[in-house]
Amino acid sequence: MALSVALDIDPGIDDALAVALALHSQEISLDLVTTVAGNGPLEMTTRNALRVLHHLGADHVPVIAGAAKPLHAPFLGAIDYHGYDALGGIPLEDSPREANQGSATDALYEFASAKHGDRILVATGPLTNVALAFQRHPQLPSVLRELVIMGGAFGLTRYGTGNSTPVAEFNIWQDPDAAAVVFASAVPITIVGLDVTNDPTTALDADDLAHLRAGTTPTARMAADITAFALKKHPTCALHDPLALAVLLDRTLFGFAHGTLEVYTAADSDMGRTILSPDRAPSRPPGAVAASVDGPRFKQMFLSRMMEN
Ligand code: RIB
Ligand code: CA
Repeated sequence: MALSVALDIDPGIDDALAVALALHSQEISLDLVTTVAGNGPLEMTTRNALRVLHHLGADHVPVIAGAAKPLHAPFLGAIDYHGYDALGGIPLEDSPREANQGSATDALYEFASAKHGDRILVATGPLTNVALAFQRHPQLPSVLRELVIMGGAFGLTRYGTGNSTPVAEFNIWQDPDAAAVVFASAVPITIVGLDVTNDPTTALDADDLAHLRAGTTPTARMAADITAFALKKHPTCALHDPLALAVLLDRTLFGFAHGTLEVYTAADSDMGRTILSPDRAPSRPPGAVAASVDGPRFKQMFLSRMMEN
């Protein structure tokens, strides 16, 4: 039985690849997409979610726009990394549909409460929508089966340092107050940070681009265009968000450390820093933080699914 999953995303080139991976994975059913300001402004990330789903033949997946700015921090974005349209400028036509009306926070609650304890939320952008949903619907953390997050840098490997600042990863740094709300909640959290997503064995290189270029499907074409864009600016194309989704596809790809998740929220040089504390917090379950990954096995799975019809 496929896992019913909602994605909260800020596409974003790697978010787009996570959507593609979700749609090509029998293990899960993608039943809702909510969008958040992050890699680009909300209207851009929402347009991109619609474009990607349309390109991949998934116009049946509801898309609801969420928060246009963080809870308190200023919105800064990451256009420099993701390109002028936050999708690498790749040639994806606009979707013929608009986003669904309604509130993303209510949609997330309705999604989760439709099957109490059976629904999973994967968040690959700033946690603003998730925090607002938890504040508006206090039962939501207990109704969700699991929250999988791409975010943080916990110092668990030599890659576990920041990418927005020396100590902070972008999703957490862009809205540290939202991360604090989410980390303090009762939801079971599995978090995949830069400790593993910046491991070079998980990233796409020129050989992988050549492999994708041999594909003829819409998914392979999109993945190749995104990879080519990334390789113009960086030695590899990092797969931060697909790695977070992969927790639901094959948990044995990862090793996990457990403890209490903490985040620095003060507006200083530590803002957005994440810590895995050994101290128990009785009010919430311990978080599981990805501490190792089988990069080659993950890439093999990712690439084979990008090439599927
Ligand atoms: O730090 C990497 C994360 O920030 C990824 O989710 C990327 O899409 C950006 O949102
Ligand atoms: Ca993202």
